[in-house]
Amino acid sequence: METTYSLKAEAYTSKEWFDREMELIFENSWQYAGLVEDIQNPGDYVTVQCGRFNIMVLMGKEGELRAFHNLCRHRGTQLLRAVGKRQKVITCPYHDWMYDLSGELISVPEKEKEFPNMDMGKMCLHKASVGVWRGMIWVHPVAGKNDLKAYLDPVLPYLGPHNPERLIEYPDTSSEDIIQANWKIVVENYMDVYHLSHLHSTTLNMYDHANSEFSFVGEHYVFYEPLAKKYEKHLADLIPVKRIAEMTDEYLGAYVPYLFPSVGLSETESSWSVFQVIPLALDKTKVVVRTKLEPMSSLEYTQQEKRSNSNWAKIMGSPQKYDDTIPNDPMTSGDFMKEDIFACEQQQKGMQNPLFKFEHTALRAESSIRGFQDVVANRMKV
Ligand code: FES
Ligand SMILES: [Fe+2]
Repeated sequence: METTYSLKAEAYTSKEWFDREMELIFENSWQYAGLVEDIQNPGDYVTVQCGRFNIMVLMGKEGELRAFHNLCRHRGTQLLRAVGKRQKVITCPYHDWMYDLSGELISVPEKEKEFPNMDMGKMCLHKASVGVWRGMIWVHPVAGKNDLKAYLDPVLPYLGPHNPERLIEYPDTSSEDIIQANWKIVVENYMDVYHLSHLHSTTLNMYDHANSEFSFVGEHYVFYEPLAKKYEKHLADLIPVKRIAEMTDEYLGAYVPYLFPSVGLSETESSWSVFQVIPLALDKTKVVVRTKLEPMSSLEYTQQEKRSNSNWAKIMGSPQKYDDTIPNDPMTSGDFMKEDIFACEQQQKGMQNPLFKFEHTALRAESSIRGFQDVVANRMKV
């Protein structure tokens, strides 16, 4: 069995490699851009970075979604900020060129005097592709793509029964972090089965990592693990919030796929989350996490949270690493996201050390990372 990695440390430290990844992967793939509820009315929009491109998705007058490059045709100024509501038109902040919601250039100040020969009909916004899949908005920087379903549907049999459009996002369950590490370190950490019982020994012990199942479906990673026996037995006392209605006993467990190249999902008995990975530079990656829960009143929310907290140590019996006498230490924070960020940043530092090279890899528990590297290597034609 092949147990070596297909990428070398250079893939995480070379600017040329990073630039080529942007071109061959992020500028040429379907990527998650937001949730359908982000764009509900004509003129609502979201933007997303895809390699060197910034793409806007906008709802037109008839309720149709359109995607354009967020780039003024005059001097290239970025037209829109990250998110916005009910734009009537798109006006460039620099010289007030104005585009309508279908991307046509409709007004240029002093047009006759300053641009007498410009045909405005040829200066519409550059188009991109957009689609909706499972309550999520997806974009492709290249216009005219219509293969979103074909790209993502093969993972459907490996996902949870959740219906994300029915669930509600609670603002304090979302986060945005800038991680000082290459995007692949962040993704590999998301897929790293080996670290679950070590780095997260007390933060993710409600799942049975030894019985996890995972593989690749095309370029996408799929993962499932059952609940730990003790957690399952006392689920009603331990579940941190209301149980997801579709998560009946036969489905219990965690479904944690990574949809190449830009988003992981985490579908559990209590929540549904997106984990969006946006490469900003060779060693800088933005991660946006948004979590949706079963609709519940704030009273139900606090009561269940309280019940879970007071029962946890009693039933699960595991000593928490949590220690608030050491401020700002990610390893004693009791927060698995902080543990992951810490591990990713420490790893990035090591990749730059000339002594480092990938050698032995875990036969089973790191086969996911080898699979991901194969997908990247294949796109990079190495
Ligand atoms: S750059 Fe947009 S109007 Fe000049
Ligand atoms: Fe982790």
